[in-house]
Amino acid sequence: MSPTPGRSTTAVWGGETEHEPYEGATQVPVVHSVSFGYRDIEAWQAVAQERAPGHIYSRNTNPTVRAFEEKVRDLEGAESATSFASGMAAISATFFALLRPGERVVSIKDSYGGTNKLFTEFLPPFGIEVCLCDTSDFERIEAEVRRGCRLLYLETPTNPTIKIVDIGRLAQAAHAAGALVAVDNTFATPINQNPLQCGADLVLHSATKYLGGHADALGGAACGASELVRKLYHFREINGAALAPMDAYNLLRGMKTLALRVERQNDNALSIARWLQSQRVIEQVNYPGLESHLHHDVARRQMRGFGGMLSFSVRGGLEAIKQFLPRLRYAHRAANLGCVETVVGPPLVTSHVECTPEERAAAGIPEGLVRYSTGIEDVSDLIEDLEQALACIA
Ligand SMILES: Cc1ncc(COP(=O)(O)O)c(C=O)c1O
Repeated sequence: MSPTPGRSTTAVWGGETEHEPYEGATQVPVVHSVSFGYRDIEAWQAVAQERAPGHIYSRNTNPTVRAFEEKVRDLEGAESATSFASGMAAISATFFALLRPGERVVSIKDSYGGTNKLFTEFLPPFGIEVCLCDTSDFERIEAEVRRGCRLLYLETPTNPTIKIVDIGRLAQAAHAAGALVAVDNTFATPINQNPLQCGADLVLHSATKYLGGHADALGGAACGASELVRKLYHFREINGAALAPMDAYNLLRGMKTLALRVERQNDNALSIARWLQSQRVIEQVNYPGLESHLHHDVARRQMRGFGGMLSFSVRGGLEAIKQFLPRLRYAHRAANLGCVETVVGPPLVTSHVECTPEERAAAGIPEGLVRYSTGIEDVSDLIEDLEQALACIA
């Protein structure tokens, strides 16, 4: 591979040029074996002590899982990567491996619902102070970081209000305060944004979404400097939330088309957002590619494409979307995103189902908001479909 291959080439070949093909197989084999045996005790010991390459036990490392990790590492331009059974396992490992009682984490109010639960329910009993700031108030986030912080945890674009956070600016403030910076890059994908290049120390993924792209495998990943990733790996090898080899294979196969899919999803989402903006029954459209987006300028600077995720609210709120969503022909109504098919869902039954109506209101999520994950279908079909379904709203 050339020293700086393009993103499409990296999606196809990343993590796959170094391994020895098994009996000439051009595809990474799915190695289901839990353990790896050695006749020679010294060779076994060398692998176990990490003095020689190889595998011992699949909760620690596995050849198929390693290929997945290497592909994500290449796509994020990181020194090292490790994997997890799901995105939430990656996020939990970040907190429990890096934070200690008495330390403080600063984050945003709009993080994914599961992440928010970790902040509000699981970290405080361990004596970890959590400070959640208004996502768009960068000055407040900087001020809270200066008050003392071990970890600044960001997500951009956010779920489901599609806000944009300035990674470079906030990473600078965090580093000045001696804090680490972790960014959930699930929505942007490494095709549109590389947080490590913007100054983050750690980038996290729910591989379940765009990386896999086909809604058939759960997985998570973390990338960064070896020393830092090693801490998360160590937590995972003990806590046991390991990625399964078959899931790693499905994710690997999906990632080969990541660049193609995401480029199409970027184009589709921008066209749909612009079309929705011109519809009288649409109250609000949240998409960073629109000039009207609060942080369109930040998105232009830190993203190569604006992503496939948008959200919008329709006139008539919850009652209206109860009529409108069932009429869509080309959309799964489901709690997922980032796959080849378009997926729609109101946050009140998807990302923020665990929140109370008051918590959703505080996070700026109207009960009638629709999250729209654009698929790779022909955009003219998606717009026609939206048009016929929205016709039911007076
Ligand atoms: C931004 C973001 N991060 C993390 C997660 C959690 O990922 P997983 O479902 O793979 O645990 C999700 C799930 O929707 C998400 O949207």
